[in-house]
Amino acid sequence: MKLVRSLGRITPALKQFPEKEKRIGFVPTMGAFHEGHISLIRKAKKENDVVVVSIFVNPTQFAPNEDYEKYPRDIRRDREKAKNAGCDILFCPDTGSMYPKGYNTYVEVKKAAALMCGRSRPGHFRGVTTICAKLFNIITPDTVYFGRKDYQQALIVKNMVNDLNMDLKIKILPIVREKSGIALSSRNRYLLPAQREDAKLLYQALKKARKIIRAGERDVSRIRSAIRKVLNKPGINIDYISIASPDTLKRKRKIDENVLIALAAKIGKVRLIDNMLVGVGIKNKGAKIC
Ligand code: PAJ
Repeated sequence: MKLVRSLGRITPALKQFPEKEKRIGFVPTMGAFHEGHISLIRKAKKENDVVVVSIFVNPTQFAPNEDYEKYPRDIRRDREKAKNAGCDILFCPDTGSMYPKGYNTYVEVKKAAALMCGRSRPGHFRGVTTICAKLFNIITPDTVYFGRKDYQQALIVKNMVNDLNMDLKIKILPIVREKSGIALSSRNRYLLPAQREDAKLLYQALKKARKIIRAGERDVSRIRSAIRKVLNKPGINIDYISIASPDTLKRKRKIDENVLIALAAKIGKVRLIDNMLVGVGIKNKGAKIC
């Protein structure tokens, strides 16, 4: 595996691979690898000739009050993990070369980016789409791999790729969970033992919602109440409960197609998200995204 730390070296590194066996799979990340990231790298390895993984803690997707400075960084550990999972090129550019002085261009997706996490994290998705557009231009991948854990992010990036005629495919892979049900996240390390117990309730709440939908419940307000009941603990601060169309993220009143149930909550100071797609055996009106 080659470690490329400078923007100027990435194109020559990619050129070293022979042209005709060069399907490039790309996994953009911010590092602090766990099995969620690794599952994406492994899948990329299976489906491509060359796997590029980027590690870049992207400042433009963090608000001033968020954890940009505190975000876990450990390239040495990540380097080993990426190599073992099948990464060929690990690209870790520095902030100054990605956003040099005078940097002035942003990519913004509307509608879906204003909902759910977009409400509580204004500007976040603009940062995500900007860095993804830049990385896609630099790496020129055939396929880019995202996790369903960040469903909204993957949908928005898909919208961008479609709207801007980018010549690449986005693949969205399942959420990797701990045995306890907690979705793996680099922020889980900040949870105290009692908070981990609270964190488990997010998945419990999603499962509860799925169960009652499967039993025939179609009224969204009743499903939301059931979720609230599971999460009703002093240590849990709900940011949103969204029961929405998986294609547009617009909230539903009645369940008349497959839905995305998405949650965000603060447990202490740690903000966690989780989601679940729930099928009701009815064809969706829009195009299905995953
Ligand atoms: P990061 O949080 O490092 O996540 C990188 C990729 O790993 C994302 O596609 C995310 O959805 C996926 N991932 C995280 N946890 C997962 C889990 N438990 N199961 C499956 N996949 C999981 O997302 C970002 O970085 C950034 O916003 C980025 C896209 C790199 C742009 O800066």
